[in-house]
Amino acid sequence: MTVFDTTLRDGEQTPGIAFTFEQKIDIARQLSDIGVHTIEAGFPASSAPEKETVAAIKRLGLSANICGLARSVKADVDACIDCDVDMIHVFIPTSDIQRENTINKTREQVLGITGDIVRYVRDHVDKCMFSPMDATRTDADYLVEVCRTAAAAGATIINIPDTVGVISPSGMKTLMGRLAREVGCPLDVHCHNDFGLAVANTIAAVEAGASEVQVTVNGLGERAGNADLAQTVMIMESIYGIRTGITKERLVETSRLISRFSGIGIPPTQPVVGENVFSHESGIHTQGVLKCSETFEPGIMTPEMVGHRRRLTLGKHVGRHAVRQMLIDVHIEPGDAELDTIVERVKAIASRGKRVTDADLYEIAESVMGIA
Ligand code: KIV
Ligand code: ZN
Repeated sequence: MTVFDTTLRDGEQTPGIAFTFEQKIDIARQLSDIGVHTIEAGFPASSAPEKETVAAIKRLGLSANICGLARSVKADVDACIDCDVDMIHVFIPTSDIQRENTINKTREQVLGITGDIVRYVRDHVDKCMFSPMDATRTDADYLVEVCRTAAAAGATIINIPDTVGVISPSGMKTLMGRLAREVGCPLDVHCHNDFGLAVANTIAAVEAGASEVQVTVNGLGERAGNADLAQTVMIMESIYGIRTGITKERLVETSRLISRFSGIGIPPTQPVVGENVFSHESGIHTQGVLKCSETFEPGIMTPEMVGHRRRLTLGKHVGRHAVRQMLIDVHIEPGDAELDTIVERVKAIASRGKRVTDADLYEIAESVMGIA
């Protein structure tokens, strides 16, 4: 399974995000370092600075393949060729609604353009990804015909975009299964998250035969974003046992870097990388976790695996066990009565809605125990 990251292209289309040149270089390095197979570095024909950035990313000589996006017009492809990218990703709308409202071409014209543009790309570059945009709202028989045309013209991989995020996992499985049987070209999938199904649909596509997944860090992207890299990778690795080549231990670090650059915070409940994923607060939970972490964690995904850390947080449900353990960890050993007082004080602060940090706890313990 290979991972195609589009944080720098679809991710940058997130309303309100504009990465600087330096940030884009940093992001590309990070993605390549953690094992992303292909980086979609941008859309060179969209502006001169965008083109210069894609060219600069290619000049870094990273181990990831560098891909540029192009509409199905020669000028766009030429802009990618000027950047010396390893792969050109050409797309064209194929659903009736997008075909009529964007390019105003007939189905037959789109078939002709598809063959011509893929051949043009292959005359210049070894790797050509072709996307029938809005594939999941395209008549299925026609979609097969477009994909076969692209494959026959030399597309090296065909991406199936769920452009407006409307398919269901079972629908995706049926569609991908048919394309895998009838098209004869490696398939990749690009899911949007309008209904919160991007990751589930991506996994369904993999179950049906997709050999590559398109993702973004923190699920950035148009509208509700794209399938999240960390979630998609961890589901494939930990639940399905599919190797992705990604250094999982750097998922949290990568998520935080992109959060900082994008200015979009990571919700504490965000799967895999969120602050709360390995945090335990209530008395029963912390007691269970202290005995065996799998009691209230998946086990097939540990904090160490994704570069996270386990936290026993101090809230109003905190138990004596958790507090004692947190203090013992820093060599503070309260007696039973002292522990009762410490727990009471922690609960009193937490029940006023305040979060008690580790430093607060040590201060409380030291004052109760008379150690300065
Ligand atoms: O969502 C989409 O259809 C896209 C295409 C450019 C592949 O981002
Ligand atoms: Zn998209």
